[in-house]
Amino acid sequence: MSKLFSPLTIRGITLPNRIVVSPLCMYSGIDGLAQPFHFAHLSTFARGKAGLVFTEATAVNPEGRITPQCLGLWNDAQVRAFKPIVDFIRSMGVVAGIQLAHAGRKGSTAPPFFGAKPLPVDDPSAWSTVAPSAIPVGPGFPDPDALSTDDIHAIVQDFVAASRRAIESGFQVIELHGAHGYLMHSFLSPIANKRTDEYGGDLAGRMRFALDVCKSVREAVGNDMPLFFRISAVDGVEAGWSLDDSVALSNELAALGIDVVDCSSGGISGAPRFRVADDGKPLQGSSARTPGFQVPYAEKIKRTTDLKSMAVGVIIDPEQAESIISEGQADLVALGREIMYNPFWPLHAAQALNADPNFDLWPPQYKWAVDRREQIRKLNR
Ligand SMILES: Cc1cc2nc3c(=O)[nH]c(=O)nc-3n(C[C@H](O)[C@H](O)[C@H](O)COP(=O)(O)O)c2cc1C
Repeated sequence: MSKLFSPLTIRGITLPNRIVVSPLCMYSGIDGLAQPFHFAHLSTFARGKAGLVFTEATAVNPEGRITPQCLGLWNDAQVRAFKPIVDFIRSMGVVAGIQLAHAGRKGSTAPPFFGAKPLPVDDPSAWSTVAPSAIPVGPGFPDPDALSTDDIHAIVQDFVAASRRAIESGFQVIELHGAHGYLMHSFLSPIANKRTDEYGGDLAGRMRFALDVCKSVREAVGNDMPLFFRISAVDGVEAGWSLDDSVALSNELAALGIDVVDCSSGGISGAPRFRVADDGKPLQGSSARTPGFQVPYAEKIKRTTDLKSMAVGVIIDPEQAESIISEGQADLVALGREIMYNPFWPLHAAQALNADPNFDLWPPQYKWAVDRREQIRKLNR
Protein backbone atom coordinates (compact mmCIF):
# COMPACT_ATOMS: atom_id res chain seq x y z
CA MET A 1 0.00 0.00 0.00
CA SER A 2 1.41 3.33 -1.05
CA LYS A 3 1.69 5.86 1.79
CA LEU A 4 2.23 8.63 -0.78
CA PHE A 5 -1.28 7.97 -2.04
CA SER A 6 -2.89 7.79 1.39
CA PRO A 7 -5.20 10.64 2.46
CA LEU A 8 -4.33 13.11 5.22
CA THR A 9 -6.90 14.99 7.27
CA ILE A 10 -5.83 18.31 8.73
CA ARG A 11 -8.57 20.01 10.74
CA GLY A 12 -11.65 20.22 8.48
CA ILE A 13 -9.92 19.30 5.22
CA THR A 14 -8.86 15.92 3.81
CA LEU A 15 -6.09 15.88 1.21
CA PRO A 16 -6.57 12.88 -1.11
CA ASN A 17 -2.82 12.17 -1.20
CA ARG A 18 0.48 13.56 0.10
CA ILE A 19 1.64 15.31 -3.09
CA VAL A 20 1.58 19.10 -3.04
CA VAL A 21 2.24 21.60 -5.81
CA SER A 22 4.72 24.00 -4.23
CA PRO A 23 4.00 27.73 -4.65
CA LEU A 24 5.33 28.77 -8.07
CA CYS A 25 5.47 32.44 -9.10
CA MET A 26 4.53 32.89 -12.74
CA TYR A 27 5.06 36.69 -12.89
CA SER A 28 2.10 36.97 -15.24
CA GLY A 29 -0.54 38.92 -13.31
CA ILE A 30 -1.93 42.35 -14.16
CA ASP A 31 -2.62 44.65 -11.18
CA GLY A 32 -2.35 41.58 -8.94
CA LEU A 33 -5.20 39.87 -10.83
CA ALA A 34 -5.01 36.21 -11.89
CA GLN A 35 -5.21 35.83 -15.68
CA PRO A 36 -6.27 33.05 -18.08
CA PHE A 37 -2.64 31.88 -17.91
CA HIS A 38 -3.05 31.19 -14.18
CA PHE A 39 -6.22 29.20 -14.87
CA ALA A 40 -4.39 27.06 -17.43
CA HIS A 41 -1.32 26.69 -15.20
CA LEU A 42 -3.08 25.72 -11.96
CA SER A 43 -5.88 23.69 -13.56
CA THR A 44 -3.29 21.44 -15.21
CA PHE A 45 -1.95 20.43 -11.78
CA ALA A 46 -5.52 19.75 -10.64
CA ARG A 47 -6.07 17.43 -13.62
CA GLY A 48 -2.74 15.84 -12.73
CA LYS A 49 -4.26 15.04 -9.30
CA ALA A 50 -1.80 16.45 -6.82
CA GLY A 51 -3.53 16.34 -3.43
CA LEU A 52 -3.09 20.06 -2.79
CA VAL A 53 -2.33 22.80 -5.30
CA PHE A 54 -0.88 26.02 -3.94
CA THR A 55 -1.03 29.31 -5.80
CA GLU A 56 2.13 31.30 -6.17
CA ALA A 57 3.20 33.80 -3.48
CA THR A 58 0.23 36.17 -3.40
CA ALA A 59 0.87 39.59 -1.94
CA VAL A 60 -1.20 40.97 0.92
CA ASN A 61 -0.65 44.56 -0.26
CA PRO A 62 0.83 46.16 -3.40
CA GLU A 63 4.30 46.74 -1.85
CA GLY A 64 4.30 43.06 -0.84
CA ARG A 65 4.72 41.89 -4.44
CA ILE A 66 8.09 40.59 -5.63
CA THR A 67 7.53 42.00 -9.13
CA PRO A 68 4.82 44.24 -10.61
CA GLN A 69 3.50 41.06 -12.30
CA CYS A 70 2.93 39.13 -9.04
CA LEU A 71 -0.56 38.20 -7.86
CA GLY A 72 -2.26 39.90 -4.93
CA LEU A 73 -5.28 39.60 -2.69
CA TRP A 74 -5.80 43.11 -1.37
CA ASN A 75 -9.06 43.85 -3.21
CA ASP A 76 -12.33 42.19 -4.19
CA ALA A 77 -11.58 42.12 -7.93
CA GLN A 78 -8.67 39.81 -7.07
CA VAL A 79 -11.13 37.53 -5.22
CA ARG A 80 -13.31 37.37 -8.33
CA ALA A 81 -10.29 36.56 -10.52
CA PHE A 82 -9.29 33.63 -8.29
CA LYS A 83 -12.79 32.12 -7.95
CA PRO A 84 -13.06 30.19 -11.26
CA ILE A 85 -9.55 28.80 -10.73
CA VAL A 86 -10.39 27.63 -7.21
CA ASP A 87 -13.73 26.20 -8.34
CA PHE A 88 -12.01 24.17 -11.04
CA ILE A 89 -9.30 22.82 -8.73
CA ARG A 90 -11.95 21.73 -6.23
CA SER A 91 -14.10 20.17 -8.97
CA MET A 92 -11.22 17.74 -9.62
CA GLY A 93 -11.35 16.55 -5.98
CA VAL A 94 -8.11 18.44 -5.31
CA VAL A 95 -7.61 20.83 -2.39
CA ALA A 96 -6.98 24.49 -3.31
CA GLY A 97 -4.39 26.37 -1.26
CA ILE A 98 -3.00 29.89 -1.40
CA GLN A 99 0.36 31.17 -0.26
CA LEU A 100 0.07 34.65 1.28
CA ALA A 101 3.22 36.70 1.25
CA HIS A 102 4.95 40.02 1.65
CA ALA A 103 8.20 40.40 -0.28
CA GLY A 104 9.68 43.06 2.01
CA ARG A 105 13.12 44.23 0.87
CA LYS A 106 13.10 41.71 -2.01
CA GLY A 107 10.16 43.49 -3.69
CA SER A 108 10.18 45.80 -6.70
CA THR A 109 12.26 43.53 -8.91
CA ALA A 110 11.98 42.25 -12.46
CA PRO A 111 10.80 38.66 -13.14
CA PRO A 112 13.60 36.07 -13.47
CA PHE A 113 13.04 35.81 -17.22
CA PHE A 114 13.80 39.57 -17.41
CA GLY A 115 16.88 39.37 -15.16
CA ALA A 116 15.43 39.35 -11.60
CA LYS A 117 17.25 42.65 -10.87
CA PRO A 118 15.79 45.43 -8.68
CA LEU A 119 13.76 47.83 -10.83
CA PRO A 120 15.50 51.20 -11.33
CA VAL A 121 14.03 53.69 -8.82
CA ASP A 122 12.80 55.91 -11.68
CA ASP A 123 10.90 53.00 -13.30
CA PRO A 124 7.21 53.97 -13.14
CA SER A 125 6.29 50.50 -11.89
CA ALA A 126 8.91 50.48 -9.06
CA TRP A 127 8.13 51.13 -5.39
CA SER A 128 10.08 51.73 -2.16
CA THR A 129 10.62 48.48 -0.33
CA VAL A 130 10.22 47.88 3.42
CA ALA A 131 12.12 45.77 5.94
CA PRO A 132 12.78 45.41 9.66
CA SER A 133 15.95 47.50 9.26
CA ALA A 134 17.25 49.79 6.50
CA ILE A 135 19.70 47.18 5.20
CA PRO A 136 19.62 46.28 1.50
CA VAL A 137 19.31 42.62 0.63
CA GLY A 138 22.50 42.67 -1.40
CA PRO A 139 24.65 44.67 -3.81
CA GLY A 140 22.57 46.59 -6.35
CA PHE A 141 19.43 46.60 -4.19
CA PRO A 142 18.13 49.96 -2.90
CA ASP A 143 17.96 50.67 0.85
CA PRO A 144 14.55 49.59 2.17
CA ASP A 145 12.60 51.75 4.64
CA ALA A 146 12.65 50.40 8.20
CA LEU A 147 9.06 49.75 9.29
CA SER A 148 7.59 51.60 12.29
CA THR A 149 5.57 49.59 14.82
CA ASP A 150 2.37 51.12 13.38
CA ASP A 151 3.45 49.96 9.90
CA ILE A 152 4.06 46.46 11.28
CA HIS A 153 0.61 46.35 12.86
CA ALA A 154 -0.92 47.49 9.55
CA ILE A 155 0.83 44.67 7.65
CA VAL A 156 -0.46 42.13 10.19
CA GLN A 157 -3.95 43.43 9.38
CA ASP A 158 -3.19 43.12 5.65
CA PHE A 159 -2.46 39.41 6.22
CA VAL A 160 -5.76 39.11 8.11
CA ALA A 161 -7.75 40.86 5.35
CA ALA A 162 -6.10 38.72 2.66
CA SER A 163 -6.89 35.56 4.65
CA ARG A 164 -10.56 36.54 4.79
CA ARG A 165 -10.48 37.16 1.03
CA ALA A 166 -8.82 33.76 0.56
CA ILE A 167 -11.79 32.12 2.26
CA GLU A 168 -14.18 34.18 0.11
CA SER A 169 -12.32 32.94 -2.98
CA GLY A 170 -12.92 29.35 -1.86
CA PHE A 171 -9.38 28.45 -0.83
CA GLN A 172 -9.29 25.58 1.68
CA VAL A 173 -5.69 25.91 2.93
CA ILE A 174 -3.54 28.98 3.59
CA GLU A 175 0.25 28.98 3.69
CA LEU A 176 2.02 31.98 5.24
CA HIS A 177 5.32 32.67 3.52
CA GLY A 178 8.02 32.99 6.17
CA ALA A 179 10.96 31.91 3.97
CA HIS A 180 13.38 32.95 1.19
CA GLY A 181 14.38 36.35 2.60
CA TYR A 182 10.93 37.91 2.23
CA LEU A 183 9.42 40.10 4.94
CA MET A 184 8.63 37.55 7.67
CA HIS A 185 11.95 35.76 7.19
CA SER A 186 13.82 39.08 7.26
CA PHE A 187 12.31 39.77 10.70
CA LEU A 188 13.32 36.29 11.93
CA SER A 189 16.92 36.40 10.75
CA PRO A 190 19.62 38.28 12.68
CA ILE A 191 21.24 39.00 9.30
CA ALA A 192 18.42 41.35 8.27
CA ASN A 193 16.84 42.35 11.59
CA LYS A 194 18.94 44.79 13.62
CA ARG A 195 16.00 46.41 15.46
CA THR A 196 16.30 47.30 19.10
CA ASP A 197 12.53 47.49 19.83
CA GLU A 198 10.12 44.63 20.68
CA TYR A 199 10.27 43.37 17.03
CA GLY A 200 14.03 42.76 17.09
CA GLY A 201 16.93 41.80 19.33
CA ASP A 202 16.70 38.31 20.81
CA LEU A 203 14.96 35.33 19.22
CA ALA A 204 11.64 36.15 20.93
CA GLY A 205 11.76 39.70 19.56
CA ARG A 206 12.69 38.60 16.04
CA MET A 207 9.90 36.00 16.03
CA ARG A 208 7.26 38.49 17.23
CA PHE A 209 6.13 39.76 13.80
CA ALA A 210 5.69 36.24 12.34
CA LEU A 211 3.88 35.09 15.46
CA ASP A 212 1.60 38.17 15.43
CA VAL A 213 0.68 37.32 11.83
CA CYS A 214 -0.02 33.66 12.66
CA LYS A 215 -2.07 34.46 15.76
CA SER A 216 -4.19 37.07 13.96
CA VAL A 217 -4.71 34.90 10.88
CA ARG A 218 -5.74 31.88 12.96
CA GLU A 219 -8.28 34.05 14.82
CA ALA A 220 -9.62 35.37 11.51
CA VAL A 221 -9.99 32.03 9.69
CA GLY A 222 -11.51 29.97 12.53
CA ASN A 223 -10.64 26.44 13.57
CA ASP A 224 -11.40 24.40 10.45
CA MET A 225 -8.88 25.92 8.02
CA PRO A 226 -5.46 24.23 7.87
CA LEU A 227 -2.61 26.74 8.15
CA PHE A 228 0.86 26.06 6.77
CA PHE A 229 3.95 28.17 7.47
CA ARG A 230 6.91 28.07 5.08
CA ILE A 231 10.29 28.51 6.76
CA SER A 232 13.81 28.84 5.56
CA ALA A 233 14.98 26.22 8.05
CA VAL A 234 18.52 27.63 7.89
CA ASP A 235 19.98 30.80 6.42
CA GLY A 236 23.08 28.89 5.36
CA VAL A 237 25.30 31.85 6.25
CA GLU A 238 27.45 32.44 9.32
CA ALA A 239 25.62 33.90 12.34
CA GLY A 240 22.30 33.50 10.55
CA TRP A 241 19.04 31.71 11.39
CA SER A 242 19.71 28.10 12.50
CA LEU A 243 17.86 24.80 12.58
CA ASP A 244 17.56 25.12 16.37
CA ASP A 245 15.88 28.50 15.81
CA SER A 246 13.48 26.76 13.41
CA VAL A 247 12.58 24.19 16.07
CA ALA A 248 11.97 26.99 18.60
CA LEU A 249 9.82 28.87 16.09
CA SER A 250 7.88 25.72 15.21
CA ASN A 251 7.01 25.12 18.87
CA GLU A 252 5.61 28.66 19.04
CA LEU A 253 3.74 28.14 15.75
CA ALA A 254 2.17 24.94 17.12
CA ALA A 255 0.89 26.83 20.16
CA LEU A 256 -0.77 29.38 17.86
CA GLY A 257 -2.57 26.81 15.72
CA ILE A 258 -0.27 26.38 12.73
CA ASP A 259 -0.61 22.82 11.43
CA VAL A 260 2.21 22.21 8.96
CA VAL A 261 5.73 23.62 8.67
CA ASP A 262 6.90 23.66 5.06
CA CYS A 263 10.68 23.31 5.20
CA SER A 264 12.66 25.23 2.61
CA SER A 265 15.93 27.10 3.20
CA GLY A 266 18.09 30.08 2.25
CA GLY A 267 17.38 33.36 0.52
CA ILE A 268 18.31 35.88 3.20
CA SER A 269 21.34 37.33 1.46
CA GLY A 270 19.84 37.96 -1.94
CA ALA A 271 22.07 35.45 -3.70
CA PRO A 272 20.02 33.60 -6.33
CA ARG A 273 18.36 30.57 -4.72
CA PHE A 274 18.34 28.52 -7.91
CA ARG A 275 22.06 28.32 -8.65
CA VAL A 276 23.05 24.80 -9.53
CA ALA A 277 26.80 25.08 -9.82
CA ASP A 278 29.60 27.65 -9.65
CA ASP A 279 32.27 27.33 -12.35
CA GLY A 280 30.92 23.92 -13.23
CA LYS A 281 31.57 22.56 -9.70
CA PRO A 282 28.60 21.35 -7.65
CA LEU A 283 27.72 23.67 -4.74
CA GLN A 284 28.33 22.40 -1.21
CA GLY A 285 26.45 22.72 2.08
CA SER A 286 23.04 24.35 2.21
CA SER A 287 23.41 25.58 -1.38
CA ALA A 288 23.90 22.06 -2.70
CA ARG A 289 20.96 21.01 -4.82
CA THR A 290 21.09 17.25 -4.42
CA PRO A 291 17.91 15.12 -4.36
CA GLY A 292 16.00 15.69 -1.14
CA PHE A 293 18.62 18.09 0.24
CA GLN A 294 16.06 19.83 2.47
CA VAL A 295 14.32 16.65 3.68
CA PRO A 296 16.43 16.53 6.89
CA TYR A 297 14.88 19.87 7.92
CA ALA A 298 11.35 18.50 7.50
CA GLU A 299 12.36 15.37 9.39
CA LYS A 300 13.80 17.37 12.28
CA ILE A 301 10.61 19.45 12.63
CA LYS A 302 8.38 16.38 12.39
CA ARG A 303 10.37 14.38 14.93
CA THR A 304 10.99 17.13 17.51
CA THR A 305 7.72 19.10 17.52
CA ASP A 306 3.98 18.38 17.54
CA LEU A 307 3.64 19.72 14.01
CA LYS A 308 3.27 18.04 10.68
CA SER A 309 5.98 18.85 8.16
CA MET A 310 6.29 19.20 4.42
CA ALA A 311 9.50 18.37 2.55
CA VAL A 312 10.46 20.25 -0.61
CA GLY A 313 13.44 20.57 -2.91
CA VAL A 314 14.65 18.28 -5.69
CA ILE A 315 12.07 15.59 -5.05
CA ILE A 316 12.03 13.85 -8.41
CA ASP A 317 11.26 10.14 -8.36
CA PRO A 318 8.05 8.47 -7.18
CA GLU A 319 10.11 6.01 -5.10
CA GLN A 320 11.97 8.89 -3.44
CA ALA A 321 8.69 10.63 -2.57
CA GLU A 322 7.16 7.36 -1.34
CA SER A 323 10.13 6.71 0.90
CA ILE A 324 10.07 10.24 2.45
CA ILE A 325 6.46 9.65 3.51
CA SER A 326 6.69 5.97 4.47
CA GLU A 327 9.92 6.47 6.49
CA GLY A 328 8.15 9.22 8.45
CA GLN A 329 10.54 11.97 7.36
CA ALA A 330 7.64 14.27 6.43
CA ASP A 331 3.85 14.17 6.18
CA LEU A 332 3.74 15.80 2.76
CA VAL A 333 6.06 16.29 -0.21
CA ALA A 334 5.94 19.46 -2.30
CA LEU A 335 7.18 19.51 -5.89
CA GLY A 336 8.15 22.57 -7.91
CA ARG A 337 10.28 22.23 -11.01
CA GLU A 338 9.58 18.52 -11.47
CA ILE A 339 5.83 19.05 -11.58
CA MET A 340 6.26 22.03 -13.94
CA TYR A 341 8.13 19.63 -16.21
CA ASN A 342 5.40 17.02 -15.87
CA PRO A 343 2.13 18.36 -14.41
CA PHE A 344 0.72 14.81 -14.52
CA TRP A 345 3.53 13.63 -12.20
CA PRO A 346 1.10 12.38 -9.50
CA LEU A 347 -0.88 10.24 -11.98
CA HIS A 348 2.33 8.84 -13.44
CA ALA A 349 3.76 8.24 -9.94
CA ALA A 350 0.62 6.29 -9.06
CA GLN A 351 1.29 4.04 -12.06
CA ALA A 352 4.95 3.59 -11.12
CA LEU A 353 4.03 2.67 -7.53
CA ASN A 354 1.15 0.43 -8.64
CA ALA A 355 -1.22 2.59 -6.61
CA ASP A 356 -3.70 3.09 -9.47
CA PRO A 357 -3.60 0.01 -11.77
CA ASN A 358 -6.98 0.80 -13.34
CA PHE A 359 -6.47 4.55 -13.88
CA ASP A 360 -9.22 5.31 -11.37
CA LEU A 361 -7.45 8.48 -10.24
CA TRP A 362 -7.66 9.99 -13.72
CA PRO A 363 -10.50 12.39 -14.53
CA PRO A 364 -13.30 10.29 -16.11
CA GLN A 365 -12.90 12.27 -19.35
CA TYR A 366 -9.39 10.75 -19.61
CA LYS A 367 -9.71 7.44 -17.76
CA TRP A 368 -11.60 5.46 -20.42
CA ALA A 369 -9.21 6.56 -23.16
CA VAL A 370 -6.02 6.10 -21.14
CA ASP A 371 -7.29 2.65 -20.18
CA ARG A 372 -7.66 1.75 -23.89
CA ARG A 373 -4.24 3.20 -24.59
CA GLU A 374 -2.81 0.78 -22.02
CA GLN A 375 -4.61 -2.20 -23.62
CA ILE A 376 -3.25 -1.25 -27.05
CA ARG A 377 0.25 -0.90 -25.60
CA LYS A 378 -0.02 -4.40 -24.03
CA LEU A 379 -1.23 -5.92 -27.30
CA ASN A 380 1.66 -4.36 -29.20
CA ARG A 381 4.37 -5.34 -26.78
C1 LIG B 1 9.35 29.15 -11.11
C2 LIG B 1 9.45 29.08 -9.62
C3 LIG B 1 8.65 29.92 -8.85
C4 LIG B 1 8.67 29.83 -7.45
N1 LIG B 1 7.83 30.61 -6.71
C5 LIG B 1 7.75 30.44 -5.37
C6 LIG B 1 6.76 31.12 -4.59
O1 LIG B 1 5.92 31.83 -5.11
N2 LIG B 1 6.77 30.92 -3.25
C7 LIG B 1 7.66 30.09 -2.64
O2 LIG B 1 7.62 29.93 -1.43
N3 LIG B 1 8.58 29.41 -3.36
C8 LIG B 1 8.63 29.56 -4.69
N4 LIG B 1 9.51 28.81 -5.42
C9 LIG B 1 10.25 27.73 -4.76
C10 LIG B 1 9.47 26.42 -4.91
O3 LIG B 1 8.22 26.49 -4.28
C11 LIG B 1 10.26 25.22 -4.34
O4 LIG B 1 10.42 25.41 -2.96
C12 LIG B 1 11.63 25.08 -5.00
O5 LIG B 1 11.53 25.21 -6.40
C13 LIG B 1 12.27 23.74 -4.66
O6 LIG B 1 11.49 22.67 -5.12
P1 LIG B 1 11.84 21.91 -6.51
O7 LIG B 1 13.25 21.43 -6.41
O8 LIG B 1 10.83 20.78 -6.57
O9 LIG B 1 11.65 22.89 -7.62
C14 LIG B 1 9.53 28.91 -6.82
C15 LIG B 1 10.35 28.09 -7.60
C16 LIG B 1 10.30 28.16 -8.98
C17 LIG B 1 11.15 27.22 -9.79
